[in-house]
Order: sequence, then structure tokens, then C-alpha cells
Amino acid sequence: MEEAGMKTQKPCVGILTSGGDCPGLNAVIRAAVLASERLGYSCIGFLRGYEGLVDPVEYMPLTPANTNGILTTGGTILGSTNRGQFSATVGEDNRLSIDQGLLASVARTVDQLGVSGLICIGGDGSLAIAEQFHQFGIPVVGVPKTIDNDLGATAFTFGFDSAVSAATDALDRLRTTAASHERIMVLEVMGRHAGWIALHSGLAGGADVILLPEITWNFDTICQKIMNRESVGRRHTLIVVAEGATLPTGDLVCMAPTAVNEQVKLGGIGQIVAGEIAKRLDRQTRTVVLGHLQRGGSPTTFDRVLATEFGVLAVQLIQKGRFGEMVCYRPPEIESVPIASAIKLLSQVDPNGSAVQTGRGLGISFGDIGE
Ligand code: F6P
Repeated sequence: MEEAGMKTQKPCVGILTSGGDCPGLNAVIRAAVLASERLGYSCIGFLRGYEGLVDPVEYMPLTPANTNGILTTGGTILGSTNRGQFSATVGEDNRLSIDQGLLASVARTVDQLGVSGLICIGGDGSLAIAEQFHQFGIPVVGVPKTIDNDLGATAFTFGFDSAVSAATDALDRLRTTAASHERIMVLEVMGRHAGWIALHSGLAGGADVILLPEITWNFDTICQKIMNRESVGRRHTLIVVAEGATLPTGDLVCMAPTAVNEQVKLGGIGQIVAGEIAKRLDRQTRTVVLGHLQRGGSPTTFDRVLATEFGVLAVQLIQKGRFGEMVCYRPPEIESVPIASAIKLLSQVDPNGSAVQTGRGLGISFGDIGE
């Protein structure tokens, strides 16, 4: 770690990772470092998200040598935080608004260290902070990340495929034990207010019931589905429920009361679903909350490639002076859009979209309408 004070010799690219971690962050860092080297920039990484930008400024030099081998590793070598001082203030209309003094100290750090462009890798909240940096005149570019895949400006965020892979692996394992014991297994997955992880893992893992935030469901339909399966000799059932799926009452299930300015902490719906089914049908149910196993570990090949493409383009945007833009994936191309437009476009599952229709075509129940 080094202290702020001296400008680096070459023009410099700064990198930080903010918000919840996900597989692929290190792949972006490594790609950005290699691309910077080729374009004549040195690189530094700010530590613990946006926190490293302000007193006490904390950063480390990033080189091809010290980032060698991180393409395949989970987490982030720079550390991250999603509960820091930058997310502590919410202004008018509940929009995030950062104190001008804090912005001025970030601008000072960037200037003192000779940072030509700052790559902010984060989800919607972190990118909203990056947009405020841009408005303040701090040279930033954004890289979207989240396992939730809930950013509308990009077809996929890296981290999502790895999370779906972990959830699918969990379903594969649950299937064999569910079948052995003729049980109903409920797997609760992450995703906040979007059901992408539940939907894709449910399709990939052959779930019988998928419960999403985007589709209103009820217990009668789920129980009917289980009984229909039993009537044709299928005595076990796999249910995937997204943590952000609302109960039939319309309530979200949260782990703990949330402090002011803190994001609601979702969790616990799996247990409620399993408990209600056990009560109504007098069957054995079990619940697994996959939790942070979805966020840890090595990125999938898809996420490695996407993260690598994002990292290289982010540096190229800096070289071209295209600040305030965010890289994104619009198949088949990697492109960029203004961060300001990207943070307004949150993405949820379309209940009439092809993935849900495919599920219905297979006989998967979404808990809304009977078969
Ligand atoms: O946004 C990513 C995510 O993993 C969500 O799916 C989940 O609700 C949340 O972060 C968990 O956050 P924390 O790191 O605070 O437990």
C-alpha cells in the first residue's frame, strides 16, 4: 500500500471494485492492467472500493507481474465495500447524493496521483456514484458487474453466469438426495428484485417450480403441482425461489430491519415456502439457502471472457477521453453507453419472455396458473 503524494511517471489508470463482489472482478483488473501497459499507462488500484480514494488514501501499484494468475480467481484483490461513506447520503427523491466535500477530496486524490482515468467496477449503486464523479469533472468510466444481472444496459453482467452455475450445481446435488428420500427441496437463490438467477438455474437444473419476483404466485398452485407430480409417481419436487420473490400477501421477506440509507437485506423466503408446503401437504420438506456460495469462487469461462473484454474496452475508452461512459455487452458486440442512462435501466425477467415461456412449455410451474 502507498500514500498519496507523488504523481506517477507515466499517465496512469486507476481501478477500483465497489459493491458486492462477484466472480470476474479480478479478470477485469488483469485485462485492464495488460491493456494499460500496451497503451503506455501505468496502473494503480484503489483499495476497499471508493473508500480508498479518500483520507487515508489507500492504493497499490498494479502491474502485469503482480496481477499475473488472477484471471481465474474469485473475489477482488482490491477489496470492496458496499456500506461505505459514499453510500451514506441519500438526497432529494431518494436519489443518492454525495457530499461535495467528499467529491472534492476524490478529485484531489485523482489529481495528486496523476490519474488520467478511473475505472469504477460496480453494480447500479456503485455506478450511480461514478456518475456523480463524472458530473463533478472526475474522469471516470464504468464497468458493470453483479451476479444479479439486473442492469438493463447490458445483456449480461459478468458474475451472473458463475452464480447460475453454482445454483445449478446445487440443484443437481439436491435432486439426488430429494429423490432418495422423496422430499420436497426448496433452494433459495440471490438476485435481489430480479429473478434471473432463479430462472436460469431453474431451467438449467430441471426445477419443477420456479418462484420469481416478477410473477405473482400462490401456495394452492404450488401444492397442486406437487400432487400432480405424485399422481404420476414423481415423489420428489425441486423448487427454486428467488430471495426477492414476494409472498402471496405482497410482502418481501427480509433478514433484519434495515437502517436508514441501507439496502434492504433479503432472505428467508425459502423457509417460509417449505414450511407452508409441509403444513398443507404433510410432506417432508427441506430448505437450502445458497447465499454467498453464489458469489465466491472461480469465474466461469463465459464470465472470464466477458470480464476480459470489459477490462480492455474500459482502458480504450479512457485513452479516447470518453469519460462518463460504461462498457456493456450488446450481443454480439462489446460497446459503451453513458453511465447516466445505464443506471436508470434496471432489468427484470419478462413474464412473457422466451425463458419463462420455455419453462411453461416444459411444464415448470411458476406458481401462478395451474397446469
Ligand atoms: O447484489 C448482489 C447480492 O449478492 C444480492 O444478490 C444479495 O441480495 C446481496 O448482494 C447480498 O449482499 P451482502 O453482501 O450485503 O450480503
